[in-house]
Amino acid sequence: MPKRTTIRDLQKAAESRKLTMVTAYDAFSARLVDEAGIDMALVGDSLGTTVQGRANTLGVSLEHTLYHTEIVARCAERAFVIADMPFGSYQCGENAAVANCIAAIKAGAQGVKLEGGARVSKLVHRLTQAGVPVMGHIGFTPQSINATSGPRLNKEEETLVADAKLLAESGAFSLVLEMVPTEISRRITETCGVPTIGIGAGPHCSGQVLVFFDMLGYSPEFTPRFLKRYMNFKEQALGALKKYKSEVEGGKYPGPEHSY
Ligand code: KIV
Repeated sequence: MPKRTTIRDLQKAAESRKLTMVTAYDAFSARLVDEAGIDMALVGDSLGTTVQGRANTLGVSLEHTLYHTEIVARCAERAFVIADMPFGSYQCGENAAVANCIAAIKAGAQGVKLEGGARVSKLVHRLTQAGVPVMGHIGFTPQSINATSGPRLNKEEETLVADAKLLAESGAFSLVLEMVPTEISRRITETCGVPTIGIGAGPHCSGQVLVFFDMLGYSPEFTPRFLKRYMNFKEQALGALKKYKSEVEGGKYPGPEHSY
């Protein structure tokens, strides 16, 4: 069995190289992320949009997250697995929030991720005291889209820097910076004292995260500026499926080499 990545491994690695995190939801994505040597597998609540076909992440339930976390933790043997706590699972009073995060650890995650700055800092402190490693998430926080009347980024530099500092002081072992302007994420990375993982936050973060399906080209219509597509999955998969259909219909498959 490969050795499971620990927080200490991540912190040590961050001293000499950039960290990588990619989302994973099932055996297929978890095994690929693990085999590629990606440091962290995030069971993102992007599950809602990518796997469940929802318009946003708000409908993801704790049960969905626990189900997918259990699969990813079983199939990714080496990566540090983080459960992205879904909307409602940690805004329900501190005791219930702690119990829900512990359920994610029991499902196999090594840590949990929560969206928000100052408003979750007390909870971050309590979780870390309870032995639950927490990754913070500031900048664009998709779970707030109703409260902010659509996808809006908090770009106010002093608030972002203060949130990052508070989360790190509260015990967060790392922070996701989503769509944070490059110079602000540089300042946060240089001052907050824990590794920062950027998405649309420029090159100065301690590491980067991308959504599995987005980086592999599963949804070519999704084209944010920050996204680099490393393959054209949809095009290749569609081509393969169409070829299969035409070969079966034309009597070309199965041939003698595929028959018993
Ligand atoms: O849910 C998710 O995939 C995320 C990443 C974009 C950081 O939160």
